[in-house]
Amino acid sequence: MIGDTYGDPGRKVIELFVNNMKRSGEVDFVVCNAENSAGGAGITESVAKELFQSGCDVLTGGDHFFDKKKEIEDFVKKETRVIRPSNFPKGLPGAGSCVVECKGIKIGVVHVAGQVFMRYHFTSPFLAADEEIEKVKKAGAQVILVDMHAEATSEKMAISWYLDGRVAAVVGTHTHIQTADERVSAKGTACLSDLGMTGPYDSVIGAEKGPILEKFLTQLNTRKEVARNDVKLCGAIITVDPHSGKAIAIERVQKNLEPAHAAR
Ligand SMILES: [Fe+2]
Ligand SMILES: [Fe+2]
Repeated sequence: MIGDTYGDPGRKVIELFVNNMKRSGEVDFVVCNAENSAGGAGITESVAKELFQSGCDVLTGGDHFFDKKKEIEDFVKKETRVIRPSNFPKGLPGAGSCVVECKGIKIGVVHVAGQVFMRYHFTSPFLAADEEIEKVKKAGAQVILVDMHAEATSEKMAISWYLDGRVAAVVGTHTHIQTADERVSAKGTACLSDLGMTGPYDSVIGAEKGPILEKFLTQLNTRKEVARNDVKLCGAIITVDPHSGKAIAIERVQKNLEPAHAAR
């Protein structure tokens, strides 16, 4: 599972590593959070297709999912492998879960967003996750992975215990900073509070430093630009027993884009 992919540097590092990791057998199935994949804000049809081409199997969204709404809304109605938090207000296009088959195993991916310190008033991610888990189980999911898109580690830990033993993994996205609290619970759920950003780290969570510093110093709005340097792929590899649907292991991943490949 790959954390918030930021702009073209994030897409570039995915292109470099993900298909190769699949070919070498390091991973079988890839869930990528893509809420910042189009210029740092939102996701578009062409960017989604590029990420699928680079080896991602399911794309999750986040609070930024609709930042480029016109460029994703038609696609999300027909491409079920692009999902957004299920607890957005009702009536918006897209779904909060999907089931995709990989090597004969049906994998359900569930995506919810938190309520604490978030810019939108999402409904309860706990109740939304219950509903989506029921849906993917009905569709035959043998393994269930959850992307909990939230700011507060407390809320992320809480939902990991709420879903304990019911899903293979509950991992967090949104903060763009990887946490070091990976664990597999006694009931077989792999957890990590945040996967970390896949993008440029010579930045403030993906954006060029200058305008962000100016914003903090002046309190005036400034235009964000995608930063270019110190690009990393961040996420976690989760090993799951497909027969029980339980996690066996979780390992954090950070891979550097070679300086020679850095988008400059
Ligand atoms: Fe993000
Ligand atoms: Fe977010």
